[in-house]
Amino acid sequence: MNKTKNTHWLLYCRPGFEQDCAQEALRQAKQQKPIIGIEQPAIVADSGYVIIALNEQSLCYRELIFARQLIRLHHSIEALPERDRLTPILAAVAALPGTFGALWLEVPDTNDGKTLSAFTRRFQPLLEEKLQEQGKLQDNSPKTVRPEPVEGSARTEKLPRLHIFFPDKSSALIGSSDPYNSAAAIMGIVRQSMPAEAPSRSTLKLAEAIEVFMDRSEQTRLLRQGMTAVDLGAAPGGWTWQLVRRGIRVTAVDNGPMKGVLAKHPLVEHLKQDGFKFAPRKTVDWLVCDMVEKPSKVAKLIEDWFAAGWCRHAIFNLKLPMKQRLVALDSALGGIRKRLDEEGINYRMMAKQLYHDREEVTVFLTKTKG
Ligand SMILES: C[S@@+](CC[C@H](N)C(=O)[O-])C[C@H]1O[C@@H](n2cnc3c(N)ncnc32)[C@H](O)[C@@H]1O
Repeated sequence: MNKTKNTHWLLYCRPGFEQDCAQEALRQAKQQKPIIGIEQPAIVADSGYVIIALNEQSLCYRELIFARQLIRLHHSIEALPERDRLTPILAAVAALPGTFGALWLEVPDTNDGKTLSAFTRRFQPLLEEKLQEQGKLQDNSPKTVRPEPVEGSARTEKLPRLHIFFPDKSSALIGSSDPYNSAAAIMGIVRQSMPAEAPSRSTLKLAEAIEVFMDRSEQTRLLRQGMTAVDLGAAPGGWTWQLVRRGIRVTAVDNGPMKGVLAKHPLVEHLKQDGFKFAPRKTVDWLVCDMVEKPSKVAKLIEDWFAAGWCRHAIFNLKLPMKQRLVALDSALGGIRKRLDEEGINYRMMAKQLYHDREEVTVFLTKTKG
């Protein structure tokens, strides 16, 4: 990949989702221009990353569901000497044009990858110092920053980040990411700490969805004390907990029990009903839904809620245990788009396989003004 005219992209994903990630990215590229004379994507099952080659097509990170991170690949080093990894990496970076705003050393999100983390932690300050001396690295910006809104941002301020990805201990992939077209977290992972009071680890999914899909001002505007929500498939209450902790009143629908502080919470009304048959008495601000059901059935439910005007915003999970995940996802999301368009509803929808998602993706849907 060193001296070809093609561009190579490195995408991180959840291990086991490499095919979905590559297939989706190639499809996005093909929608711009046919891909001509390019080698097949390099996919290693369960590796947590893929490399794809394109002609000059670009990729849009926000529209990719399975990619955790989007990196333009510049160089690969295949036989890194164990005693001196610094020299070849410095030489490769020196040959790149421009200056970088941050240095991110990354490893695959696998057990093998984790064994390299101790090395990257030790290596980071050494490499950083040398790159700053070389004038290749401009500042010591924080390693994890909030995503900036893409639309209308002043594109002049942020320099590209430099990524050195170690697929294993003897190779390195060197690339860069555009802070306006990538994830703003190392390894593309927005980590969340488990709140002691929350009754299930699922709470982390909703916490992460809020961080990933909404910038700070949107979070403040859309998640306010006094708002109302319905949580379909709420038990034991991890998602409800995220809402009540923001002062939102929740109708929690589930035949199963709400646990811990949510068993008797002043902001929670627990209804033992079928989530697919439940209708709210009045419009609520939020619908959240984590029921384990076919994506097509959940998508239909969401469309019906928006078409009936029962909610303004939704975060829901689509479970993807099937082999043809992209097909199931296209059909579910395509169905929602079609129905909302027919109903004349203006909306914004984003879907991502979050770090805390397993065989599933999370979707944010919000009504927008005409
Ligand atoms: C993955 S769990 C939800 C976990 C929850 N989000 C949390 O954070 O604790 C799925 C829940 O959906 C509920 N469920 C499945 N089908 C349902 C239905 N038709 N109506 C209501 N609840 C349903 C199950 O009882 C189960 O509690």
